[in-house]
Amino acid sequence: MKILAVDRKGQEHVIEGRDGWSVMEILRDAGLPIAAECGGACACATCHVYVDEAWLEKLTPKSDAETDMLDMALAVEPNSRLSCQITCAPELDGLKVTIAPE
Ligand code: FES
Repeated sequence: MKILAVDRKGQEHVIEGRDGWSVMEILRDAGLPIAAECGGACACATCHVYVDEAWLEKLTPKSDAETDMLDMALAVEPNSRLSCQITCAPELDGLKVTIAPE
């Protein structure tokens, strides 16, 4: 599967995802500026991304922990998600995310 990731300068990157890995891990390994301070434990919100509207409904809904963590994040939008809580899967081929401001 491919992930389209827009960085903070508006530049688009096409990255090869790996099934079962989190989107955060894929973005980070591709060298994009995702701090992911808690390492994917849903405890920092530094992996905040905006999910393209067309993809929102296809994702697994937010857990209570993710909702709580997003409540504390900056610049939260209705399409905000924590990328460590999105798991790569074949049906998400073409998933588009934009890295949120720091
Ligand atoms: S990496 Fe910390 S919440 Fe996602």
